Amino acid sequence: MSRLIVISNRVAAPTPQGEGGAQGGLAVALSAALREYQGLWFGWSGKTVEEFTGDIEFARHDGVSSATIDLEPQDVDEYYNGYANRTLWPLFHYRIDLAEYDRSFGSGYERVNERFAETVAPLIEPDDLVWVHDYHLIPLGSQLRESGIRNRIGFFLHIPWPPARLLTSLPAHERLVLSLLAYDVIGFQTAEWLESFQNYVERELGGHCDADGTIHVGDRSVHAAAYPIGIDYKEFQQAVASPGAHEACSRLTESAAGRHTIIGVDRLDYSKGLAERFEGYRRFLEDNDHCRGKLFLLQIAPPSRGEVDTYETIRESLDELSGRINGEYAEVDWVPIRYVNQGYGREDLAGFYRAAKIALITPLRDGMNLVAKEYVAAQDPDDPGILILSRFAGAALQLKEALLCNPYSKEDISDSIRRALAMPKEERIRRWRAMNEVVEKQDVVWWRKCFVDALERSRR
Ligand code: G6P
Repeated sequence: MSRLIVISNRVAAPTPQGEGGAQGGLAVALSAALREYQGLWFGWSGKTVEEFTGDIEFARHDGVSSATIDLEPQDVDEYYNGYANRTLWPLFHYRIDLAEYDRSFGSGYERVNERFAETVAPLIEPDDLVWVHDYHLIPLGSQLRESGIRNRIGFFLHIPWPPARLLTSLPAHERLVLSLLAYDVIGFQTAEWLESFQNYVERELGGHCDADGTIHVGDRSVHAAAYPIGIDYKEFQQAVASPGAHEACSRLTESAAGRHTIIGVDRLDYSKGLAERFEGYRRFLEDNDHCRGKLFLLQIAPPSRGEVDTYETIRESLDELSGRINGEYAEVDWVPIRYVNQGYGREDLAGFYRAAKIALITPLRDGMNLVAKEYVAAQDPDDPGILILSRFAGAALQLKEALLCNPYSKEDISDSIRRALAMPKEERIRRWRAMNEVVEKQDVVWWRKCFVDALERSRR
């Protein structure tokens, strides 16, 4: 069997102390996938060093080998805080109003991708399959080719792919997309992002796309398809059954004192629609005064990417908005929003999901959203909760039995909460069963298999 070399910005391989803490979707999914495979996870250590050395730190824990490098502070500024999170992230989430185009970001991005290529290339053996992840590393494939790597290389994008008309606002968009053609397989979360990509290829590059997923541009052919990422269902079920989860579930249930919990768990990011969610919930309280005091919104939102201004701004505005709503509606014995800025481990989250009657997951745009899938997996089959899900999350294409809502509409959020509260048990069970089947079958193992099979089938 070929080894698998996974390359991503962040390496969240297990540590000797255990995984602990909250992790992004990518981290959770990949540590699960790599546990089964021989191979290596390569990426940035998260640390900086005054001058780049290319020294690699190797580690092996819990069946996963990792290799990481340190970057220079300027690399981090231009590549991670700059091009990745000030330019590509907002643009790919349809927020061109927030995207910053700065030439130094682009050159830092190229430089770090070259540094990745240079350092990882000697670790790649002839039979290895190479799997590159996410928007931080789009040009890495073409740089690996320049270093002489002939292996099969796949790329998976964890975030949305924007419509061609938005993408063309990016200076040098063509160069970025052309660099993707160095891969053998390009994976997207959903058919929607794939269509946007195909549309760009046809409109801007004059390429054409076959029905079987092959994309032709000039003399280059690449396979592009949708592979929706899943959760590690079995592992999550164990987390749900753990003493830690039971404790967390009781802790929340006891503190709720008979009130219903509506839960939201998101990195503190403008793409998650938190302000719109709070406004929608406020609208619900306004329109349903008989429900005040009978439920509360528990919003868990660990801060993220704090060095990027837009994240600081969203944090401040949410502090203010949650404070204002609480000030307006709170009673001596009830606060409408419990707004928590810390992350929790998997067992705690599993317990909180189980205790919550409703999950309110309303991103304005999201590649997939694994919280929605975890919420489903954590439910009691005999008395499941209800998932209210944004129609703009990739997960909405699979979880069709959720209450799908428009996250931009306060009324829609408010109506969805009202519908969820009134939903008869039979309907809850019927909807949950349909969603749970998808979450269980199309789990992270299925996802990894689909992608790696496609990569193995691709021939250069
Ligand atoms: C999203 C991205 C991941 C990223 C995660 C956390 O899920 O697709 O690539 O790792 O957010 O963001 P961070 O900037 O903290 O790595």
